[in-house]
Amino acid sequence: MTKEKILVTSALPYANGPIHLGHLSGAYLPADIYVRYKRLKGDDIIYICGSDEHGVPITISADKENVSPHVIIDRYHEMNYEAFKKFGMSFDNYSRTSLPVHHATAKEFFLEFHNHGLLKEKKTFQFYDKKAKMFLPDRYVEGTCPNCGFEEARSDECENCSAQYEPQELKNPKSKITGETPVLKETSHWFFPLGEFQPRLEKYINEMNEKYGWKENVLQYCRGWFKEGLKDRAVTRDLDWGVKVPLDNAEGKVLYVWFEAVLGYISSTKEYSEKIGDPDLWKKYWQDPDTKYIAFIGKDNVVFHCIVFPAMLMAWNDGDKEKYCLPQNVPANEFLNFEGKKFSKSRNWGIDAIDFLKIFPADPLRYTLAANLPETRDADFHWKEFQARNNNELADIIGNFVNRTFTFVHKHFEGKVPEKGNLETIDIEMIKTISEYPKKISGYFERFKIKDGVNEIMNLARTGNKYFNDSEPWNTIKTDKTKCGTTINICLQTIYTLAELFEPVIPFSSEKIFKMLNAEKTTWDKCGEENLAEGHKLAKAEILFPKIEDKIIEQQIAKLGSGETEKNKDNLITYDDFMKTELKVAEVVAAEKIKKSKKLLKLSVKLGNEVRQVVAGIAQSYEPEEMIGKKVVIVANLQPAKLMGEKSNGMILAVEKDDGKLQVVTVNNSIKNGIRVK
Ligand code: MF3
Ligand code: ZN
Repeated sequence: MTKEKILVTSALPYANGPIHLGHLSGAYLPADIYVRYKRLKGDDIIYICGSDEHGVPITISADKENVSPHVIIDRYHEMNYEAFKKFGMSFDNYSRTSLPVHHATAKEFFLEFHNHGLLKEKKTFQFYDKKAKMFLPDRYVEGTCPNCGFEEARSDECENCSAQYEPQELKNPKSKITGETPVLKETSHWFFPLGEFQPRLEKYINEMNEKYGWKENVLQYCRGWFKEGLKDRAVTRDLDWGVKVPLDNAEGKVLYVWFEAVLGYISSTKEYSEKIGDPDLWKKYWQDPDTKYIAFIGKDNVVFHCIVFPAMLMAWNDGDKEKYCLPQNVPANEFLNFEGKKFSKSRNWGIDAIDFLKIFPADPLRYTLAANLPETRDADFHWKEFQARNNNELADIIGNFVNRTFTFVHKHFEGKVPEKGNLETIDIEMIKTISEYPKKISGYFERFKIKDGVNEIMNLARTGNKYFNDSEPWNTIKTDKTKCGTTINICLQTIYTLAELFEPVIPFSSEKIFKMLNAEKTTWDKCGEENLAEGHKLAKAEILFPKIEDKIIEQQIAKLGSGETEKNKDNLITYDDFMKTELKVAEVVAAEKIKKSKKLLKLSVKLGNEVRQVVAGIAQSYEPEEMIGKKVVIVANLQPAKLMGEKSNGMILAVEKDDGKLQVVTVNNSIKNGIRVK
């Protein structure tokens, strides 16, 4: 088979926080397994990644700590790079988008588009936070939806009713950064005409899918976008952190982070080429139509990698410069959850990669994640499953197989590969099984069915154990040493094959096994053959996978954020649980009795600009007039209900006095209504 030329990228993680296990299983581990596999196949492959170091969230982190954004990106770039190394990621290059080579590349693309008249400059109104002195990205503005009244709507769309609207239409806007009411300010931006590319993009994705079989989940996302219709997208922002817009009249503007981050793949490859002293090497991967370009990402990145980035490359290729390759496949994964819930820093739910790898070696984690990748649907990481994968599979299946074989060979065959005698059916079958394995696993890996491939490799170790058991070398050593030698020889060949097939998955352990075998790896296609010569001297055995004790796992579970179990015991809630209840100051502006009810009063209360009706069971404690003007505290996000035919939208807090009467909780009159109580 001819060798392939392959370019692999993994999404550039934000240098704004530590990566966690979810990231690893989404866009990094599957890519690393694929790359390591392809290297063993002997293909010409390059694996590119780096930190994504621009965007508003990084500036916000910096402001919070009162440091420059450089401090933030340096910290997390180093931390994530360290975590990746420990995890055994085999990037050829791990770059950063703050490097000059990246800024130059991004500017080059922008200017190319600009000079060809592709970008349209448009005036828009955007929310501006005077206190923070910045334009607010959509997700940093919250207000009341003009359509359904949902109070936590974003400035451009409502999560509750999915309405989309102009920022002017949002009611009661608040900056999520300072809490201030932002003003609408005119600004101008350059727009990339994504809509114009829709027909070509649809064609591109259909063709790639027909030729290379794209994943169904990825196709679904793309179809969803196409169905809605692609819109022009602003590719600039008003911000001073990022790649400056390379035009004269663009003071205070940078390229939109997504526009330039995807180009980070190209600039990282350029940096690599410089580093290894072959400055034009990057072109061989990016600009040769023979390149097979595979982009590994998580599902939240689909639109940028299957739609925006390809459109940008198409736009470039429409010009007269050297043309770029588009992704041939984008095997995006779904998400990994943690013990049944989303990873969450604020709830302390989950574990960062770097912390994990301080306690456990990389391979058990790689194996656990790989055996359960979120390839077609969200998956879940459980501490107990991690322990079980290590103890019951790595240790008890492959670890045990290697260990018992080595013990035998050192005890009875002077640590040398024994000679084979006559082969019986059981031996012939085992040899055949091993020889078929590389192809079998290729079948999975080539189609990005990494999880199935990994589980199938473990099956070979299971088969090895069964062969060992069925052959009973502990008996044949006494009755027929030649036969025993045959068994052990074949077990050693199986171990060799396993070490190579498992190299992409558990590279550190694979290396240990090769050391024990005192052998080098071969190419993937040959690893199922007889690779160890009779009489070959083996090295000492080592324990591959120490068992993980219950105690260690329990310690980890106990550390988890709100720790369900503890919560139940002590009846404690977390801060986040508490914050789910929106307590707000409300002013009573009208009150009346409800006919036929001795207990209920119907109140109108004002929260900011909003007036609501609340029904409260306080009629035996207050006359309606007494209530007017009181500043009370209400649970503002209680599900609306009907009491005696009257709508109630909230609940008033009150305490019961000794005489059984109720007293509503009031706050000082100087406190503005609508304010949150926390
Ligand atoms: N930083 C983004 C994320 O973590 C991914 C960027 S991928 C890139 O979701 F290609 F745009 F860099
Ligand atoms: Zn709405």
